[in-house]
Amino acid sequence: MAEKRKFQAIKGTRDLLPPDTELWNRVEATAREVFGTFGFGEIRPPIFEPTELFARSIGADTDVVSKEMYSFPDHGLWSLEGVRTDILLRSPDWSDPYSVKIFTRIIDSFIDRTSAAMLQGEMPKTTDNERAIEQLRAASVRVSTAMVPQTAGLSEAALSLCLEHIHNAAALLKFGDLVTLRPEATASVCRAYIEHGMHAWPQPVKLYYMGPMFRRERPQKGRYRQFYQIGAEVLETVQPGQGGAKDIPKDAAVDAEVIEMVMTFFARLGLEGAQLEINSIGHAAENCRRGYVQKLKAALEQVKDRLGPDSQRRIETNPLRVLDSKVESEQAIIAGLPKIADHLCDDCAKQYAEVKRQLDLRGVNYAENWRLVRGLDYYMRTTFEITAKGLGSQNAVCGGGRYDGLVELLGGLPTKGIGFAIGEDRLILSLQEAGKGEAAAGRDVFVAWMGEKAQATAIGAAQRLRAAGYRVELPPAEQKFGKALGQADKLGARYAVILGEDEVATGQWTVKTLADGSQQKMSEAEFLERLKREVKES
Ligand code: HAM
Repeated sequence: MAEKRKFQAIKGTRDLLPPDTELWNRVEATAREVFGTFGFGEIRPPIFEPTELFARSIGADTDVVSKEMYSFPDHGLWSLEGVRTDILLRSPDWSDPYSVKIFTRIIDSFIDRTSAAMLQGEMPKTTDNERAIEQLRAASVRVSTAMVPQTAGLSEAALSLCLEHIHNAAALLKFGDLVTLRPEATASVCRAYIEHGMHAWPQPVKLYYMGPMFRRERPQKGRYRQFYQIGAEVLETVQPGQGGAKDIPKDAAVDAEVIEMVMTFFARLGLEGAQLEINSIGHAAENCRRGYVQKLKAALEQVKDRLGPDSQRRIETNPLRVLDSKVESEQAIIAGLPKIADHLCDDCAKQYAEVKRQLDLRGVNYAENWRLVRGLDYYMRTTFEITAKGLGSQNAVCGGGRYDGLVELLGGLPTKGIGFAIGEDRLILSLQEAGKGEAAAGRDVFVAWMGEKAQATAIGAAQRLRAAGYRVELPPAEQKFGKALGQADKLGARYAVILGEDEVATGQWTVKTLADGSQQKMSEAEFLERLKREVKES
């Protein structure tokens, strides 16, 4: 008998259940509503994309790409993958012809199967794959020939070299392309923008998305491996003769409107204590961010001994990220480092000033935070983050910024971009902590019935009430009224309609209000009127 196994959701993932999902749906419906009023349309990109798309957009040295992505080769050749692993682990005993023969047989069959898979299009027919198969074939022939007594003559060292060639060639074979469960969606939106020729759509193109993202982070409160984002992006291809300094006021207004939209959404949800922080990280040029990073690096080298291992490592890989450090002992040191605002080029400084003016025009409150650099490589100029209450250390509920150039980096036309993503799990948590996550009553009406005739009336009543949009529970089997009322109470129903012989005969239903236990007789039409007044309006 198969061993009984208790399955559980994988670490860092979870089930979202009712009644919580009601709040999730409310949040998502509000996002659609608010974003719609700003002229955004929904995009639903795939959950997985080529690994290269994220590596190129987000940056190979970022935490997300270097350690947090769920990536896997996309193919169905798992038994061949098993043979490959077997070959990689094997090292035949050269003094034992039988052991060598088995080894070469495994390789020859592997070569036949991979060649057939390539012919049938199950495996990419690339020059690298063809070369790897040729190398395997050549090495296998050399080994087989060396084993025939008449032609034997390869030294053990030469045979070991053959084995190395075999291992290298087997390791090089690619059964399928590497794909990744999306860790974020900005890269996907840019990919879609290029793929669907959106540069030819009316500009700018405003898109929003919502759905699961995947990052292999250490799970804790507000941090999951499968988490949900609600995000939006504004993309605009630079037309010939446009761009440059004269676009600064327009770009700044777009940045401010995007930020205004998130803040409007949060306000509509009743999220309290949302704090917006903004910064500008300039653009990648010697007279702007690149020059600043050099100065920052030099300053960091001076204080290196007083920094922890993570920051020390980042001096080499990504000095800007040192500014993100939350390590207590580093805070005073970081406060004394050069500030990017003092090293922005003229255009970036103007754009930053204009973003602040545009936020003021819109009545959006913000605080400046010169240490806000964000963890993804594609940003330039405006960056922002919003924190919310009740979240502990993972209190960033939204992050975003401008990413002019990303579409071009991915093979598209020169295009500007700005957007954000809200951590929906954190948003929900913050709303719940503040008591804003109250789920509505479980049912509007519980229809209790006794007797065959009453069941027919109850079915008809349930159908009409549901058609009018009310949430109705109709028990599948007859219940004593006392028990039925107990169940109605447990389900959080507002009203119980009691249908017995009398009610069916007179057409006067007994309606019980569960909150106060009061009971009244009324016709179906009167009950519908009451529901309309009391349920629809609440
Ligand atoms: P991000 O800062 O990496 O930006 O993520 C945005 C938000 O997603 C975070 O502020 C946080 O609320 C939430 N989040 C991130 N990781 C987790 C996690 N492991 N568990 C729970 N929530 C998480 C981006 O993803 C960019 N694509 C945002 C953007 C759009 N920038 C421009 N356009």
